[in-house]
Amino acid sequence: MSAKESMEVSEAQIAVHWQEEDYYHPSTEFIAQANMTDASIYDRFSLDNFPECFKEYADLLDWYEYWHTTLDTSDAPCFKWFVGGKLNASYNCIDRHLAKNRNKTALLYLPEPEDEAHQPITYQELWVRVNETAAMLRDTCGVKQGDRVTIHMPMVPELAVTMLACARLGAIHSVVFGGFSGKACGERISDSGSKVLVTMDAYYRSGKLLEHKDKADEAVQVAADEGQEVEKVLVWQRYPGKYSAATPLVEGRDYLASDLVKEYAGQRVEPVRVPAEDPLFLMYTSGTTGRPKGCQHGTGGYLAYVTATSKYVQDIHPEDVYWCMADIGWITGHSYIVYGPLSLGATSVIFEGVPTYPDAGRPWRIAERLGVNIFHTAPTTVRMLRKAGPDEPAKYTFHFKHMTTVGEPIEPEVWKWYYHVVGKGEAAIVDTWWQTETGGFLCSTMPALQPMKPGSAGPGMPGIHPVIFDEDGEEVAKGAGIAGNICIRNPWPGQFQTIWGDRDRYVSTYYAKYNKNPKSTDWRDWPYFPGDASVEAPDGYFRILGRVDDVINVAGHRLGTKEIESACLLVPEVAEAAVVPVADEVKGKVPDIYVSLKPGYESIGGEVERKVSDAISDSIGKIAKPKHVYVVTDMPKTRSGKIMRRVLSAISNGKDVGDVTTLANPDIVDEVRKLVQG
Ligand code: WT7
Repeated sequence: MSAKESMEVSEAQIAVHWQEEDYYHPSTEFIAQANMTDASIYDRFSLDNFPECFKEYADLLDWYEYWHTTLDTSDAPCFKWFVGGKLNASYNCIDRHLAKNRNKTALLYLPEPEDEAHQPITYQELWVRVNETAAMLRDTCGVKQGDRVTIHMPMVPELAVTMLACARLGAIHSVVFGGFSGKACGERISDSGSKVLVTMDAYYRSGKLLEHKDKADEAVQVAADEGQEVEKVLVWQRYPGKYSAATPLVEGRDYLASDLVKEYAGQRVEPVRVPAEDPLFLMYTSGTTGRPKGCQHGTGGYLAYVTATSKYVQDIHPEDVYWCMADIGWITGHSYIVYGPLSLGATSVIFEGVPTYPDAGRPWRIAERLGVNIFHTAPTTVRMLRKAGPDEPAKYTFHFKHMTTVGEPIEPEVWKWYYHVVGKGEAAIVDTWWQTETGGFLCSTMPALQPMKPGSAGPGMPGIHPVIFDEDGEEVAKGAGIAGNICIRNPWPGQFQTIWGDRDRYVSTYYAKYNKNPKSTDWRDWPYFPGDASVEAPDGYFRILGRVDDVINVAGHRLGTKEIESACLLVPEVAEAAVVPVADEVKGKVPDIYVSLKPGYESIGGEVERKVSDAISDSIGKIAKPKHVYVVTDMPKTRSGKIMRRVLSAISNGKDVGDVTTLANPDIVDEVRKLVQG
């Protein structure tokens, strides 16, 4: 594919384009209390001081044994951080706070029904629950160091407890977003080789108690079909003592965790002292082709990086009430609900429900009731709340000192509503650019050190040195305002270690493009390529334009177009499917689906369209639900038979399709355009 063509099919092309905005400055009150007010941090973390500078982050943790090598590049680009060190993540997130803050709230759980009281869980209580759960996992399920445990749960405290219990045992958790289907969960179980699945009977969503256990049965079946046997399924209960699912338990396989854990009352499990580079967890994310990738994150580097960025970018102090409204089933929740905030001894809110139920005032009632002062969410949620209740925040008495956006570019207009109406003009905002793979933030302003600029993520974080390359590997001049592929010049402690079980895919996806010597063990030869297009302004702020590959960012999360297309092909009538991102007012991007049918079939009364939409929800989850499904007589194709998604994307987004005369079937373009645009 030529450079021009690959840029043309990219999402960046159809991303919103806006002008550089004016700066907004943090208040003097904010700066006076901020954790990081020393601008020399950027000098301390300059490339000259790399990699030793990251000692400063590692020293935020408690180590059983201190490391001897900050960065080991011998197996580049699988980098190892803090080698020789030993630690335990659950010890760092819980035990070390007990001496001073035993009865301070660690997790503040808020059920969706408003008549159910919020439940503060102190560090002491968290310690008790994590110990007992670890004992249950060890003794009932045989979980030991290095084993993988798949966790498919909604937003309840037992999710964080189970993760931390795995970490205590040195086991690797693999949390699958609760909204994903049983099938998606089963594929991840099989890829990770988990013998244990931890799930929940039911949870609330938009006022309904939804069955969840049925997904476990499907997941176990899907995994078994792929050759992976799940031996034990632990089922937490939404209401302990009362089973809220219709699906029966399978004898000898399924256990009610909420009951079983009582048998472990009073048991304590010594945290396993794991080497710094032992994996802490897997988090699956979508790629361009094939199956989701299990991003493997290490223990020492990851925990050091999320602790430091939580402290300096989120500005979390132990006395803060911090609410990140992401789901723990995504990387944001791992890094910035569980590991970062708890490592700092903060109070972290876990909210079960959806932000607009029963009305768009709910988040602000929660903030008022719990005294939240740091708030973290995605642009899609900000757009949704702005649309559903633009005047709601003003009705409640809450004050945020700090707010975050994450996951996708935020339009300046939406940013300004967030700033003035939600933040009441008092809160510092950070727009954090990063990915599942990167563990923590890559670009963001440091809230007390730089002004905010709506629509721009900001400069590279301390110790993160971004560069923009063109398609040929030439550096785009710094601050030139020319779009290209953003890369990070250097490794950093938060980055993933590899793709679980697929080192080749790790190297080819993230490094091969800009690596000139595949044998090199010098980190300078391995710029990290995240797959985003970006432009750097003269002030060094990076604006992220979107993905350069066939990955659709829906509501701040990546979905692989190939995964969606294969779901469409499950419908017997469908011959070919093409998925393109279409701009959506609230979700940012959503999939538009084009399908052509096998000879002799037609769609009567929209039946095929419905089946396609259902197939996508069933095999991936509702998050992938398409905006439209179009049944077309043929796809626009090149002479070599390749579907021209670029043309379909232009039609879906009401853009010019460009020159289509070289297509094998140029006439189809008009036909499809009429179907879509009327
Ligand atoms: C992709 C990563 C970051 C955790 C949640 C999503 C896009 C992320 C921003 C931002 C513009 C952003 C990128 C990135 N993205 N943050 N602040 N501004 N774009 O994690 O599912 O791994 O998706 O989300 O395209 O590559 P993810």
